[in-house]
Amino acid sequence: MDRYAVIGNPIAHSKSPRIHAAFARQTGQTLEYSTLLAPLEGFVTAVENFRSAGGRGLNVTVPFKLEAFALASQRSPRAEAAGAVNTLTFRADGIHGDNTDGAGLVRDLTTNLGCTLAGRRVLLLGAGGAARGALLPLLQAAPSSLTLANRSADKAVALAESFRPSANGTMLSAGGFPDLAGQQFDIVINATAASLSSEAPALPTGLYAPGALAYDMMYGKGDTAYLATARAEGVTHLADGLGMLVEQAAESFLLWRGVRPNTGPVLADLRRELSAA
Ligand code: ATR
Repeated sequence: MDRYAVIGNPIAHSKSPRIHAAFARQTGQTLEYSTLLAPLEGFVTAVENFRSAGGRGLNVTVPFKLEAFALASQRSPRAEAAGAVNTLTFRADGIHGDNTDGAGLVRDLTTNLGCTLAGRRVLLLGAGGAARGALLPLLQAAPSSLTLANRSADKAVALAESFRPSANGTMLSAGGFPDLAGQQFDIVINATAASLSSEAPALPTGLYAPGALAYDMMYGKGDTAYLATARAEGVTHLADGLGMLVEQAAESFLLWRGVRPNTGPVLADLRRELSAA
């Protein structure tokens, strides 16, 4: 049986095994997908053991995405752009590293939420790994502008500069949160870690254009702290990152198995369960 796993630390609460098991059932693929807890200092050894025991591929989560990037002998352009790897595929000629997070975000926005990115004004909040992973796929969707804003403005400016060669026709700008005052956006994506500590980024008010979408890469039961502030400002089109989680998994499944699963029913099941928790 073809074996896959998600490797991380901690890993026990990962939803990935259930998501991939559902994809496998749905597409008639025979595979096993489990969790793999690696010691903080033992990522490479854990990967090598899994590979030599016949493993075919791994999803990689916190805190190992940078180590996975370094370990890969070949990397996709989107992994290079993200500077991180969340999907490893073991091939005869080496370890292939990819990053499906940004593609998962874009697919959730466009396919699940029916949101058009081309020609729209996009605001991306944060300048850490999550924001970096989203930048290339967002630019490839050709928004009219992409504004990067971060609590530490200099980090946002540096990140935007490194993506300028990929901007094509998109107006790319960056700064701190106060610099946003007076601007309006059609799509606002929270890629900061603020929701992890139940905080919302300290944004000026009035950033949301009529009909704007507020999106948080984090998810939980009910609104995240960021989504609650957007709702309080009158935003009615809101989404959390559960769809992104399922879509990045689907992109990995497609890479490994050559077939794209239907994410709708899997996302609906997870949502039902989260609401009932
Ligand atoms: P990740 O890999 O999840 O992106 P990271 O690289 O540690 O995590 O980056 C965390 C991001 O969340 C940063 O953009 C950070 O802002 P700073 O660069 O100013 O530290 C942002 N962040 C964390 N807590 C925040 C908060 N309470 N309000 C606003 N931004 C926050």
